[in-house]
Amino acid sequence: MVKAVRMHVTGGPEVMVYEDVDLGKPGPGEVLVRHKACGLNYIDVYFRTGLYPQQLPAGLGMEGAGVVEAIGDGVTYVSVGDRVAYAGRPIGAYSEARIMPADNLVRLPATISFETAAAMMLQGLTVQYLFHRTFPLKGGETILFHAAAGGVGLIACQWARAIGVTIIGTVGSDEKAALAKEHGCTHVINYNTENFVERVKEITGGKGVPVVYDSIGKDTFIGSLDCLAPLGMMVSFGNASGPVPAFSLNELASRGSLFITRPSLMSYTAKRQDLETMAAHLFSMVESGKVKIDIRQRYPLSEVAQAHRDLEARKTTGSTLLIP
Ligand SMILES: NC(=O)c1ccc[n+]([C@@H]2O[C@H](COP(=O)([O-])OP(=O)(O)OC[C@H]3O[C@@H](n4cnc5c(N)ncnc54)[C@H](OP(=O)(O)O)[C@@H]3O)[C@@H](O)[C@H]2O)c1
Repeated sequence: MVKAVRMHVTGGPEVMVYEDVDLGKPGPGEVLVRHKACGLNYIDVYFRTGLYPQQLPAGLGMEGAGVVEAIGDGVTYVSVGDRVAYAGRPIGAYSEARIMPADNLVRLPATISFETAAAMMLQGLTVQYLFHRTFPLKGGETILFHAAAGGVGLIACQWARAIGVTIIGTVGSDEKAALAKEHGCTHVINYNTENFVERVKEITGGKGVPVVYDSIGKDTFIGSLDCLAPLGMMVSFGNASGPVPAFSLNELASRGSLFITRPSLMSYTAKRQDLETMAAHLFSMVESGKVKIDIRQRYPLSEVAQAHRDLEARKTTGSTLLIP
């Protein structure tokens, strides 16, 4: 038996219960991972509230790091005793230990601690694909990135600086503005007190930006389109303020033949080779010191409800860990 966070209904943070679960043994292609740390991500809120539906009862959490304790038949990617980490499905990372498919795991280099891995796999791999595959940045661009002081945001600020990209970041408070700046954000806009569309136009001399990375959704969507230069790319990759409502494609035409995509990390890591390439890139960015994973909150796994409350109340910055 191990302790795990489960939900039997969708709803507020109180629906998450910390209970005993029977793990059993790993089947063919599966491994048992004992977690040292689990990552907290905004996507966990979408699953908890039911915005992203799943069959119930269910676990929660999509990111963890730990040690392989047992393996099933036919497992070749990892061995017992390996230090590993993962981001993505199947859901169920909020646990002391779990069974999962071996091919979702990557082995950790000795230079990457369990805590760093659990804090960066989902958010760091996201920045990797957003900047190098969704809209490949060459260096020299000026881009708009919302929620720049969040988990994905602080990694994005440092990554952009490392590849010679000027990042305009939005944040919800002056403290967050200072934090984003420290992490490499060139221009910071507090979108609670400033009109971010006007500020982006001002910063870019009226030209707009070639790409917006928008994880806020409902509240920023139209404003983000207004920040784009003709033929620009809207990357709508999250919905922290609520899902983007239906809109007319003419909104893209009237602003200059814009492109739009709604990417998800899981599509980009679906092929094992891509996962390995992306993870190697992330590890090298961290090992080189160009990106530092800033773990700014830690909660015991049993206090996950408080962690969710703080995340949704916009009280957290950088990455957050749940410690089993
Ligand atoms: N598609 C993908 O592959 C993918 C992968 C990873 C993450 N994401 C998305 O990226 C975003 C960031 O994820 P994260 O885990 O790093 O979270 P996070 O940025 O640490 O937290 C979310 C932030 O969003 C901002 N926000 C704006 N309006 C909000 C509202 N109404 N309620 C709550 N927060 C609001 C807040 O920052 P301010 O106070 O500064 O506004 C808040 O701190 C999320 O939307 C997540 O779903 C997508």
